[in-house]
Amino acid sequence: MSKTNPTRTIAAARGEIVHPDGVINLNAGSCSPVPQPVLNAQLAHLTMQSRDPVEYIWTASIPHIENGRRALASFLGTDSDNLLLCTNASWAVNTVLQTFAWKSGDELLITDQEYHHYRPLFALLTKKFQVAVKTVALPLATESDTWDSTAVCALFRQALTSNTRMLFFSHITSPTGSRLPAAELCALAREREVLSFVDGAHGPGHIPVDLDQMRPHFYTANVHKWLMNPAGCAFLYADPEVRFAFSPLMCMSGYDAVARRENRVTAAGCTAWQYAHEYQGTRNLTPLTVLADTVAFFTSIGVGEVVSAWQENTRHLRSLLRTTGLPIVTADAAAKGADPQTCLTACQLPLPRIDPNKARSWFRREHGIELAFPVLADGRVLLRVSSAWFNTKEQLERLVPLLNGCDWGRFV
Ligand SMILES: Cc1ncc(COP(=O)(O)O)c(C=O)c1O
Repeated sequence: MSKTNPTRTIAAARGEIVHPDGVINLNAGSCSPVPQPVLNAQLAHLTMQSRDPVEYIWTASIPHIENGRRALASFLGTDSDNLLLCTNASWAVNTVLQTFAWKSGDELLITDQEYHHYRPLFALLTKKFQVAVKTVALPLATESDTWDSTAVCALFRQALTSNTRMLFFSHITSPTGSRLPAAELCALAREREVLSFVDGAHGPGHIPVDLDQMRPHFYTANVHKWLMNPAGCAFLYADPEVRFAFSPLMCMSGYDAVARRENRVTAAGCTAWQYAHEYQGTRNLTPLTVLADTVAFFTSIGVGEVVSAWQENTRHLRSLLRTTGLPIVTADAAAKGADPQTCLTACQLPLPRIDPNKARSWFRREHGIELAFPVLADGRVLLRVSSAWFNTKEQLERLVPLLNGCDWGRFV
């Protein structure tokens, strides 16, 4: 992440996060609330867009979007020419994986903790392109006392074959919040002359991310998770060497620029490559036009300050969770050899087959607490708690009596 010069204290910034009455968001891992200054900016843009849509969508929005692209690129330690701006990480992952020139028999290496909504996509790659999808099983913290870069890299190294074409892995996994050694895995991919694709949905705004140092071939992340932008803003980074190795998901004006490998700047303010992917017809552009406001808000708090605040919260949360007797499956930074932890902490629930929707709904409707209940590929249900910088210790403490007295059978 870029250097920051904090001008807002954590306490002041917390005061600018407006929560709905009586609701505690312990699920920033799915979506964070939008800070009030960014929401104010979005409302101003929405007004311009709604009152004067033709002028706004095709002309007035352009400098705001390009400003946002530059601000985000600098925040991520890369050049703005390498970034496509898009609606969400799901679009980015589908764009690359569905349009890449796969050869029959190519192997795609993933982990067993990839985002569950991608499971049909992996199956489609096999059906459509005869890609063999191979899975690396990541140990849970309760099953292994080491979670370090070397151990995780060794699992990938063992699974690589001469047919491996791409490594696809989460920077921080969705079900357990485990942090993978992204730079080391990208280096492994380059050493073995295969491509790396990092699903960084939970990276930027949560942990430091420097793309030019990490050197992935592809990296996508949402700006609407940890960076707290309004929903509908994400990016896809592509290393210049693979910029033309995939095509736009939608065929619209400018589509041929990819086949022609064009890099010129267009009248839309972006390059022909960016335009070919980004022009998707008429849509709400305000999540993109406030991107620079979002990055400015975040950098005014300071990346280091944000990380220290969630680390303090996470230490507190983990000590609270230990008193509930639910086994914590996310590696602890304090454990020997563990990579720095994240502010997503997962516990394994005592009943294997509870309905995650019933559980989420009970905590939210009866107690005003927003939580995530991810399901592992083998069907085990977890409770995932986010202890983001904007949460307070008191909010985390509200959860514990509910967990202690919980009749999990009610969610079967
Ligand atoms: C690891 C991971 N990847 C991708 C996504 C998809 O994000 P979006 O719905 O914004 O596309 C998520 C969402 O939670 C995620 O956790």
